Amino acid sequence: MSEILLQIDGREVKAEEGMTILEASRTVGIDIPTLCYHEKLEPYGACRICTVEVETRGRTHLVAACLYPVEENLVVRTRSEKVIKIRKMLLELMLAHAPEAGVLQDLAQEYGVREVRFEKEPSFCILCGLCVRYCAEVKKKNAIGFVDRGVRREVSFIPEIASKECRNCKECFSLCPTEALQARFLLTEALMSPSPSFEPKSEE
Ligand code: FES
Repeated sequence: MSEILLQIDGREVKAEEGMTILEASRTVGIDIPTLCYHEKLEPYGACRICTVEVETRGRTHLVAACLYPVEENLVVRTRSEKVIKIRKMLLELMLAHAPEAGVLQDLAQEYGVREVRFEKEPSFCILCGLCVRYCAEVKKKNAIGFVDRGVRREVSFIPEIASKECRNCKECFSLCPTEALQARFLLTEALMSPSPSFEPKSEE
């Protein structure tokens, strides 16, 4: 595999061909925030919080570090003014959906987000897809999926599969950046269970 030389935040970084900017940055301890990235999953590019600025052939672009492959002589800025601005806006958007999420609150503090200017519509899910993709790609069960489209899009357990597969797994719970998933699963589980008041009385 050939070696690629690039510059990240002013540092010369040696990376392997095929690596992403995120992976190359991590090899030298440069921190880029992520919310939908997981090393066991295919890159997805949903949250965009990993946005960085790249300069190549004299032009600058904003790209998702978890998707963008390293290139020879690429110049990457992980904390430029533009990058900070876009991360702040993304955090505001996500906080409008998941105001209680600790990971978002921590990032908001780090990036100086003091108010959320977007209409608050708490759904407690930022649609990072970690749970959906982990269940499909790692567990190969597809017990949880996206339902609906546009602003109605959300994740939901598939009761027929979840009732068999999820009870002893729940590996996706710890992946959820907003902790929404556990509540969703419990709700689904509750809906699937027969209400005690309707259970037939056992014959004595
Ligand atoms: Fe790169 Fe979410 S971590 S888009």
